[in-house]
Amino acid sequence: MLPSVLQPSATDHVPVLADEVRQLLAIEPGETVVDATFGAGGHAALLAADLRGEGRLIAIDRDPSARAYFDRFRKQTGVQGRFLRGDFSIVLEQLADNGARADAILFDLGVSSMQIDRPERGFSYAADAPLDMRMDPSADYSARELVNEGSERELTRIFRQYGEERYAKQIARAIARRRREQPFERTGELVETIKNAIPAPARFGDGHPAKRVFQALRIAVNDELTALEDALPAAVELLNPGGRLAVISFHSLEDRIVKRFLRDQEHGCTCPPDFPVCVCGQEPVLRATPRRAIRPSSRETASNPRAASARLRAAVKV
Ligand SMILES: C[S@@+](CC[C@H](N)C(=O)[O-])C[C@H]1O[C@@H](n2cnc3c(N)ncnc32)[C@H](O)[C@@H]1O
Repeated sequence: MLPSVLQPSATDHVPVLADEVRQLLAIEPGETVVDATFGAGGHAALLAADLRGEGRLIAIDRDPSARAYFDRFRKQTGVQGRFLRGDFSIVLEQLADNGARADAILFDLGVSSMQIDRPERGFSYAADAPLDMRMDPSADYSARELVNEGSERELTRIFRQYGEERYAKQIARAIARRRREQPFERTGELVETIKNAIPAPARFGDGHPAKRVFQALRIAVNDELTALEDALPAAVELLNPGGRLAVISFHSLEDRIVKRFLRDQEHGCTCPPDFPVCVCGQEPVLRATPRRAIRPSSRETASNPRAASARLRAAVKV
């Protein structure tokens, strides 16, 4: 029997841009689908329905608690498939190296409600809990290490770059001062330090005052941008010709990585722009469908505020 915190519940995660993903991935019975960010299996359940009992779904997640959701998913859908626990950049590469092929691959990036809503995982500024934020709890490096050991300069960069935090420098300085007296152990201590480091009016401005720092730490602790950069080429390698790729991102840095990758793969040629003729011979590998990112409707963001920052990009392998 799993501990109660790992018992999946029906309300765990509302899949974002679900209809759009389904349309773009256009799953046919008999195909092989890879859900590279299985989470609570919300998207996977919809994609599995499109398989109509034929084909298989490979689920990947670096969070071991997703396995319980996969077991439930398999029971409910009866779909053939496997759960592979690990970083998608590594697992996708291993699958491709082992000769596996896929017809559709989905990335729904970031953190899931099942992680945020479990205070003991330390992702949330809304509850006092151990400072953790690891998607993979067996990883060596948690937010506790980063906050207590990262240099003031490194923390400033992380808060600024990944959190677009205006008061990055002030917050990093306050953290460095506080940890000299006592190391940070809990999210509540960090929230207090952030609140005290920023000017009073900013405490009541754009969302919770710790929101941006928590997002930044999470991205850094889980090395999310590097994982995405490494995973996209592996995903393309894994796709069959005609295979579809869809990526939902929640941060402008993620979206930029996806946008540039799709543009480069669509372009093919990597010769410098001043070369009169192509000498690299690289052919286009992907065709973006559609060209622009898809954003959620106002109806979706009203019912699921988490969707507000979502951007969906998709492509077909030529
Ligand atoms: C937004 S949730 C996915 C939710 C899912 N689409 C659903 O409908 O339930 C993102 C999931 O991806 C996982 N994840 C994020 N980065 C990952 C990585 N580099 N490798 C594997 N899993 C990752 C997280 O652990 C989380 O469970």
